[in-house]
Amino acid sequence: MTQYDIQTRKGLPQEMQALLTVLPRDGWRDHPNFARSIQNWMGAHQMFRGLTGQIRQDSEDFLEQKQEDQTYAARLAHFGMLLFNNLHGHHSWEDRSFFPELEAADPRFARGLEMLESDHEALDGHLDQFRRTGNRLVQLATLDPTQMKDEAGQMLDTVTTIDGFLERHLTDEEDLAVPILLHHALRG
Ligand SMILES: [Fe+2]
Ligand SMILES: [Fe+2]
Repeated sequence: MTQYDIQTRKGLPQEMQALLTVLPRDGWRDHPNFARSIQNWMGAHQMFRGLTGQIRQDSEDFLEQKQEDQTYAARLAHFGMLLFNNLHGHHSWEDRSFFPELEAADPRFARGLEMLESDHEALDGHLDQFRRTGNRLVQLATLDPTQMKDEAGQMLDTVTTIDGFLERHLTDEEDLAVPILLHHALRG
């Protein structure tokens, strides 16, 4: 299991690349089976990347006193809720519907899909921490803004961890799933 761990792996494991080697990423968009729904799904991933990057940047700016406390709290409440709710919804749909569909189409990749499901569990713990710290920051913005700095440091640590894990997860997930979708014309 450890060689597949989100904290240590460096990319999609070699033994899960059977279709990726014949359908490399740079040819996906021109493939006749590259459907709108695949594009939308990858678009959601881009949105998650954007949101974590934004929250990370805001936290750095606040800690360097380039962003005012109420602005930071308001932006965090907005972008944080978007990230938390949408990512949870996205993971639930993948676990319940998308991964079983891919596995039924091509059982060779069952182990890879299981790895991605484990990633979701690992990310969940960090997302809970993110939600708790975010809530505290928003409350402190009203009750006692002078105490926001420590919490913002915690937020920066948490969102940096999520950013790294998410980038690994999203890239490997695309590298596994898109070639299956294209090869089996699942969205054509
Ligand atoms: Fe996922
Ligand atoms: Fe995903």
